[in-house]
Amino acid sequence: MPTASRPPAPPVAPGRLPLLGHALELWRRPLEFLDGLTAYDPIVATHLGPKPSYLLTGPDLVHRVLVTDAASFAKGRSFDKLRPYLGNGLATSQGAFHLRQRRLVQPAFHHRRITHYVDTMARFAAERAASWRPGQVVDVTRQMLELSLAIVTSTLFSTALDAAAAAEIRRALPVVLRGMYTRVLDPTDLWHRIPTPGNRRLADAHARLRRVIDHLVRTERADPAGERPDLLSMLLDARDADSGEAMTERQLHDELITLLVAGTETAAGGLAWLFHELGRNPLVDERLHQELHDRNAVPPTADRLPELDYTRRVVDEALRMRNPGGITIRRAVVDVELGGYRFRRGTEFIFSALVLHRNPRHFPHPRRFDPDRWLPDRPAVPRGAFLPFGAGHHQCVGESFARTEMLTVAATVAGRWRLVPVPGVRVRGVMTSTNHPDNLLMRVEPRPRTP
Ligand code: HEM
Repeated sequence: MPTASRPPAPPVAPGRLPLLGHALELWRRPLEFLDGLTAYDPIVATHLGPKPSYLLTGPDLVHRVLVTDAASFAKGRSFDKLRPYLGNGLATSQGAFHLRQRRLVQPAFHHRRITHYVDTMARFAAERAASWRPGQVVDVTRQMLELSLAIVTSTLFSTALDAAAAAEIRRALPVVLRGMYTRVLDPTDLWHRIPTPGNRRLADAHARLRRVIDHLVRTERADPAGERPDLLSMLLDARDADSGEAMTERQLHDELITLLVAGTETAAGGLAWLFHELGRNPLVDERLHQELHDRNAVPPTADRLPELDYTRRVVDEALRMRNPGGITIRRAVVDVELGGYRFRRGTEFIFSALVLHRNPRHFPHPRRFDPDRWLPDRPAVPRGAFLPFGAGHHQCVGESFARTEMLTVAATVAGRWRLVPVPGVRVRGVMTSTNHPDNLLMRVEPRPRTP
């Protein structure tokens, strides 16, 4: 219900062009554009297609859409465009079907299970760090992407994964990730039908990814993992609590491709930003390194991770200030009222953790990288103000996995190397389906043996 002083429609974001709306801004300077919208509280209209989409900047409104009033909202149009690639996996399904699948998949991602994977995460991180030479300049985003892909594929498919299958996933997945994003952004919805070389590459990579997943599922069925279950074997064994049924072959396939897609670029982007901030904040970097030594966590092990309080605060601060997630979209399935405005059924709402996390009302000096803002004696952050992994039914199923991976990789790499910015190199934030740094070239310098 509009209040007496409130205009009948929310303010419109600046920079709107005739016909193009804000699409060009979001395409050219996504992070700057989103950053500028933190000033609008609690809601601002953006024009990315023929109709406005409303960006929610107020934590209360986001909490209502994702949690308390979630029944009034469905996933938006962009998820329909992802369905040809992800099928009906967790990220694209809804309602009762989604809940059933979520009950089957979630136990495999329970925190207790994840601790089994710390050794694998630390081993891959140590191998990668060992491949660098003192003084070498590395592209950190690329390194983290390859590392994160190795970790996700190995923890999903450990026993069945052979070198050929791993190489095939490494080749095909980035093509699928890029192609899916282009498809989501295409306002005409026609481009993907034209047999351009890019579209043919996407179709081919998608077919290869499907084939390799089928091969891995067959291998695992023929020779189950036994004593040391991987995520795939847990998904194969999962049974619905009511019906006792297992997932169908098709469903299993959709969930596996969803996990590969959802779990790779996000964690990699988070880690790349984390190292970027450590490079810009040498005192933070020094404290983190000191903690690793004090806690005897070089290299880190599962039982040492809970003691790494400062490193965990660095991870939280990276997830706050440089949130690697993309934008989340919901569509109203009934007429709704939000922030004092009325909206018709079918209206789309978007929220960006990056915008929420840079609100100076909830995070003083939001552009300052300050891990100590997460000390337990600091004022609590209001509900809905810090949502790196979303909230409600669709909250990230891989949250524990991602946090453990970020902590383990940060500790392993920072225990051995200091990553130093290269003078004159301009790092740029890029928003595709995730937010990650581009051109993040850093020089690796060995740490002294003892601090
Ligand atoms: C730092 C890393 C990560 C971030 C920031 C992140 C963020 C998110 C967010 C915000 C959502 C909710 C989307 C929505 O509400 O529409 C989500 C969902 C999801 N994430 Fe993550 N994620 C990360 C890592 C992972 C990992 C490592 C995996 C799996 C290995 C994963 C698997 C998923 C899946 C399957 C969903 C869909 C859940 C559902 O709808 O039930 N994510 N993630």
